[in-house]
Amino acid sequence: MHANEKDHAWWQRGIIYQIYPRSFMDSNGDGTGDLPGITARLDYLARLGVDAIWISPIFPSPMADFGYDVANYTGVDPLFGSLDDLDQLVEAAHQRGLRVLLDYVPNHTSDAHPWFVESRSSRDNLRREWYIWRDPNPDGGPPNNWVSVFGGSAWELDPTTDQYYYHAYLREQPDLNWRSPAAHAAMLDVLRFWLDRGIDGFRIDALRQVIKDDQFRDDPLDPAWTEGQDPYLSRVHLHSTDRPELMDIVHEFRALADSYNGDRLMIGELYLPIERLIAYYGADGQGLHLPFNFHLILTAWGARRVAGLVETYEAALPVYAWPNWVLGNHDRPRVASRVGAAQARVAAMLLLTLRGTPTVYQGEEIGMHDVDIPPEMIQDPVAHSLPGLGLGRDPERTPMQWDASEFAGFSSVPPWLPLADDFATANVQSQEAEPKSMLSLYRRLIELRRATPALSVGSYRQVYVDDDLFIYARELGSRRVMVALNFSHGERALPAGVGEELRPVLSTHLDEVDRGVLRANEGLLLE
Ligand code: NOJ
Repeated sequence: MHANEKDHAWWQRGIIYQIYPRSFMDSNGDGTGDLPGITARLDYLARLGVDAIWISPIFPSPMADFGYDVANYTGVDPLFGSLDDLDQLVEAAHQRGLRVLLDYVPNHTSDAHPWFVESRSSRDNLRREWYIWRDPNPDGGPPNNWVSVFGGSAWELDPTTDQYYYHAYLREQPDLNWRSPAAHAAMLDVLRFWLDRGIDGFRIDALRQVIKDDQFRDDPLDPAWTEGQDPYLSRVHLHSTDRPELMDIVHEFRALADSYNGDRLMIGELYLPIERLIAYYGADGQGLHLPFNFHLILTAWGARRVAGLVETYEAALPVYAWPNWVLGNHDRPRVASRVGAAQARVAAMLLLTLRGTPTVYQGEEIGMHDVDIPPEMIQDPVAHSLPGLGLGRDPERTPMQWDASEFAGFSSVPPWLPLADDFATANVQSQEAEPKSMLSLYRRLIELRRATPALSVGSYRQVYVDDDLFIYARELGSRRVMVALNFSHGERALPAGVGEELRPVLSTHLDEVDRGVLRANEGLLLE
């Protein structure tokens, strides 16, 4: 290990892999993925070369939002297996040098959680204050104008007590009241429970919503919004999200994680503009290790735009802040569908050569694309609550394609969501055997990143950008690597003087590297 590399934590050098457990591997033939399924596929992940897996929620849940509606924070839903299965998974992962991160859902519970069942039972129940209850407006309507991310008012009138409760997401996902000391303490105990069990960290769900304005002021309307757009964007979420008080909680999360031998990781889900996002590293870096940076997902694909994003992000990061990059997740259209199959290879090189921890979403490494879901097979509640806007998330959640067998090696029965129609050719088994496949490209890039300290922990410097090309250098000591990405569908010569002293070592085409010329949709790594 290079001297400078030793100064970095595992999660700075490492690569994270997101598992959406319903769709990764079904071990018991019920059409839905489960924990023993993940354990059975750990060798694949170790071979891929990632350092940690983050598993989306596996806790007991009525599955109104597929596990993001938690009914018990310290158990495992029978659909996914048992606590024993999870312990076995963690042990097997650790044996292979893989860390395990769980999803922590602090903003809301399920309406079936015993805490909420009690809370809604009467106005004087001891757990009443664990959730956010408000009287109706004088006209009987909701207490203010806050809207749900998933459509409609964020307030639900509960006839039992004639008060409204607040839900930033589905009405089946009532928001916890983090201003209640008892609820707050109970939720920190949840973290302790898993950390004590050997979990290596968390991805924190819906973090920006966790604390809301204590005066419940209306959110200002966004004048830029027009009918036909996502209704959530009709408001500027000034009072319902990203409150200054949230930082105290974030600091507490971090302190708690740090009290476990200093190597547990806290990542936050934060869809925020860059200047707000970086605030979550906390004063002097005492906040989150990694506030998830989703800007590659949110930025239109193009050399100038992407280069501009990297510049802006790099410039905004304080010295103590470690960057991170994400191309996709279970909530957003897949990168291969957004940018096309050819450019997805360029995107892979970008993700795995930028400065900062990359997170790979399951299936990205085999180029999985969004799948059209026939109306009768739609599962995601968002497809129903916000129809016609293309916001349903089933297309990016279809089962992992392992092989060409009847159900893609994912299950022995028809899976909960349809398989992509090209799974017989686009799958792990066939791509493992194909030297130029997307999987081979991911493996090569990951291998190179691991073997090259300049790539894993070196500095970043933009070298050149135009409408088609984005070229940057990663440097550590005297070692320099250059990455040249061609975002266009035509051939482009490397600009005069750029990289002349360097030797191409890897093309995204995985063939002989043609010095000086970038072919259509090609990324080149030079050293
Ligand atoms: C973000 C999660 O990623 C998404 O899947 C979920 O629906 C919402 N948070 C609510 O928990």
